[in-house]
Order: sequence, then structure tokens, then C-alpha cells
Amino acid sequence: MSRSADLSQRGKLTWYGDADFSTFMRRAFAKGMGLTDQDLEKPVIGIANSWSELNHCNSHLREVAAAVKRGVLQEGGIPLEFPTISLGELFISPTSMFLRNLMAMDTEEMIRAQPIDGVVLLAGCDKTTPAQLMGAVSADVPAVMVTGGPMLTGRWRGRDLGACTDCRRLWTEYRAGNLNQDEISEVEGLLFRSHGHCTVMGTASSMASVAEALGMTLPNNAAIPAPDSARLRHAEDAGRRIVHMIEEGLRPSMIVTRASIENAIRVLCAIAGSTNGIVHLLAIARRAGIPLDLADFDRISRESPLLANVKPSGDYQMAELFEAGGISAVMKELLPQLNAEAMTVTGKTVGENLAGTPGTLRDDVIARVDKPFDTEGGLSVLYGNLAPDGAVIKHAAATPALLQHTGRAVVFTSLEDMARRVHDPDLDVTPQDVLVLQNAGPIGGPGMPEAGMIPIPKKLLEQGIRDMVRISDARMSGTAFGTVVLHIAPEAAVGGPLLAVRDGDLVELDVSGRRITLHVAEEEIARRVAESGLPERDPQLRRGYGWLHAEHVTQANHGCDFDFAWSIA
Ligand code: FES
Repeated sequence: MSRSADLSQRGKLTWYGDADFSTFMRRAFAKGMGLTDQDLEKPVIGIANSWSELNHCNSHLREVAAAVKRGVLQEGGIPLEFPTISLGELFISPTSMFLRNLMAMDTEEMIRAQPIDGVVLLAGCDKTTPAQLMGAVSADVPAVMVTGGPMLTGRWRGRDLGACTDCRRLWTEYRAGNLNQDEISEVEGLLFRSHGHCTVMGTASSMASVAEALGMTLPNNAAIPAPDSARLRHAEDAGRRIVHMIEEGLRPSMIVTRASIENAIRVLCAIAGSTNGIVHLLAIARRAGIPLDLADFDRISRESPLLANVKPSGDYQMAELFEAGGISAVMKELLPQLNAEAMTVTGKTVGENLAGTPGTLRDDVIARVDKPFDTEGGLSVLYGNLAPDGAVIKHAAATPALLQHTGRAVVFTSLEDMARRVHDPDLDVTPQDVLVLQNAGPIGGPGMPEAGMIPIPKKLLEQGIRDMVRISDARMSGTAFGTVVLHIAPEAAVGGPLLAVRDGDLVELDVSGRRITLHVAEEEIARRVAESGLPERDPQLRRGYGWLHAEHVTQANHGCDFDFAWSIA
């Protein structure tokens, strides 16, 4: 029994220099909320809730929290819900990634500071899941995560709408003149049918899957649809389970290990998950003190079969993945390659959890391991003189013919420059060119906005072009697609070689050789970088959180966490 922080004991007291007074005051304030002497003797379960009306994807989490509370009460705990920062992808400027680390710090410090014996983490939208995992790993108090689940699949004119893969696809058709204003307005009203996160294997679905593969959720968490009553029953189970985790002293440091991180990477590759999952897993691993680098992702991706046929790289959505058995079925199929001895929040190992689980229930959605959709996972890591510290591509969502390609660079020096010129009819660009975006990385963005899927210039859209090679130091939404090289490190804003690319240079992409090359002499690259100088820092980044971010955020190959947040063990 590892309890130390309940409301009647002396753990985590407010400092007044008189422990008895602090205890008396805490009990008095707790009673002021209607708690009784009996309640004060019970283990306290914090429910870290990222519910917000400014975050569509998490807008149902109060109902989920109520289900967690039922479970906690059934097992003799006291549930106390508290808010954390919430990051809704479409409601945050400049980009939610800029604030992920702030949410991770909020989560960590509130878990650490408050008198709670264990915590249930409620997350959903893209950054809320990794931020809570990062915070929980650093706080290392017994923790179980419940994600919000995907929303209902939208329909338009007899076709499924994948949020948000089809948001992008249909917007591109609107830009190309193939959809009119009335039609795009109709789509706008049909894309999001319920609460919950995006319906495809975007970052939210990928990170929910990663959390399950890490062992930080109960089995079957990731794919249960948000409006499904099974989501509430799952949450109640998690509420029951956390009380016993406290009794067992089962903490994140016993669950998030090298073995479980490798399991999570393997699942991410097998589902062709979001490239953002790479950044977040690097950050989680560093907080857990686990050595991990981009080469681990490339090795595991090469070894892992592609098992999920889910958009943006496949045909289906999370609803069908749920019918096919969810992430448990993916893990059952992958079991021979997983670290089966890895511990999970159930108090059992991955292998024990999966013992009674069937494999795939629909092999058109989740392939059997002996008949995968591809023999390799969906992610590749590239190196070369353009990306000495690495870059990534989700080749499963790319155009196969473009995976080996050399083209002339068309350079945009910033997001503003891109927005101003990309659709200019006078832009000198052909379908064979390589679109290059600079200064959109962790510092240059700031926060690495999801701008890596550079829009295809309108004049090429009108010619029927739908994909080109695009490279940047930005990220890309997990729901996006195309031949898009991302996360180039070091980024342009710190003097990475990406800064040296000029219009007309030849850029070579060689995914099978895992290379990205700028065909310019090394001395010329160095000369251009020196000549360019580093961009002046935006006034918003000279004080407050912006300053902290600019001073301490790490590059993409390290997970973009703050350097001071890494484990010091
Ligand atoms: Fe929240 Fe897609 S916008 S998950």
C-alpha cells in the first residue's frame, strides 16, 4: 500500500510551518465541500480532465468523468475532478504544439502538488493525450488514461466522410473548382456528427492507440466511439482499477519502459499512424529516462507489418477498426513481435491481457499478421545533407511514384511567404518541382505548425495535379496525406541546411535509400547559411511562455519537449 497523500494524512501539506494546522485547515476546507470524516480516510483519486467548450474533441469528457467517479466510489475511493489546460486543434493559435509542453507541465505539477493518491487522465484531441502522458510519467503517481474516442463517421451524398482526411481532400477539390460554394458549405455541416476526436488514423487516434500499446490504458480503449455506451463502461472500469493500482503501488515508471515504448512504436507503424506520434513518443521516452532516437523508429517500421487499412493511408475509419477488434486485435496479431512481458495498468503483462483476445474480426480492416497489407510499417526516417539529424515521411500515405524523385526546388521562406505566393498564377512551378517550406520548425514556427502538407498551387490543381514532393521543418496533421517530408532537423531557424535551399536547386528524395539530398556543394551550403543569418525573434517570443519556449524547446528528433523536462535520473 503506497498511499501517502489522502486528505487526513500529512503528505503533500500546504506549508505553514505547522503540520497540524495545515492538516486541520485542509480537512476543514474538504468538509466545506461536503466531504465527511469517512470520506477523508479514503484514497483520493484525482481526475485530470481536459474537458473544454473550446475543444470540440474533448467536449464530452465531463460525462466520461462521471463514469470514472462511479467506478472509484464502487471500490472505496474518493474521486475529485480537476481541470487541466485543454488544447483544441482548431481553436488554438498559432498551433496547439506550441502549448503541448505547457499542458504537460500543468498536468505534472498539479498531479504532484495536490493531495491525490492516483490519477485518471481524460484526454482526446491530438496534443491533450501526449501532454497528459508526459506529465504523468514525470509525476510518477499511479495513473490510468481514458481517451475520449472517435466521433461518429459523417456521410455526404452516399459517401463516408473521414474527419479530417476528407476535409482536406474536399477543400482541395473546392480550390480546384470541382466543388461549388453550396457544396462545400453542405460538407461543412456534415463532417462532425458528434463529440469525440477525428475519425481517421490522425494524431488523436494514433496517440490513443499509442497510450493503449504503452499499457497506460485498459485494453480496448482507443477505438470505442465517443458516443458509444461502451466508452462510459470502459471509463467506469478505469475508475475501479485506479483504486487497486494505488494499493499495488503500480506507477508509470513500472509501465513506461523501453519494452513498452518499443511496443508503442511497433503499433504506431502497424497502423500507419501519425508522424506526430514519433515526436510525442520521443518526448515521453526522454521524460521516462529511456534512450530512444529516430533510428529506432525506422528499424521498427522496417520490421513491422502494416496491419490497419484506415484513412489517410487506407480505406476505413476508426468505426470499422472498432468493429474489427480495435487496437487489442492489432496487438494480438502483432504479439509475436511485441514485448509480451511489458507491464500494463491492469497489473498484468501485455501477453496476459491478450491471452483471451481474438485476433482480427474483419481482415479487410485489420490484416492477419501472415497476410499484411504491406510487409513494412508506414513510416520512414530519412537522413542526408538536408537533414543531418533526421526527417520523417509517412510513405504509406504518399504517392508511390514520387518516393524516388529529383526535382527543382520552389522555396517559401516562411508560412506568410507561402500563404502569399503559393497560389500566385505567376509562380514558376511545375508538377515535377519540389515545394520547400523554411522556418516552420519548433522555434521558427513557432511550435512546428501542421503546415507541412504545403498546398498544391492552384494552377497545378486545375491541371489535375494532386500530389508533389514537399519538404519542410514543419509537422503535418495525422489526417493529412501526400509525399511530404517533415520534421527536418536541425530546423532552418537554428541554421539547419534547409535554410540554404534556393529556388532552382535540385533536391533528391530517395525513400528506399532513406536519403534526402540537396545537390549543392557543402561549402556553398555553409556559405548560404552564414549569409542568411538567423531570423529575428518575434516580439511575442521575447517574454513569458514564448520566451521559455524559444529558449528551451528541443528539435524534432528529440521530441520538442523542453530540455529541462527530461528525466534527470
Ligand atoms: Fe481534435 Fe482532430 S481536431 S482530434
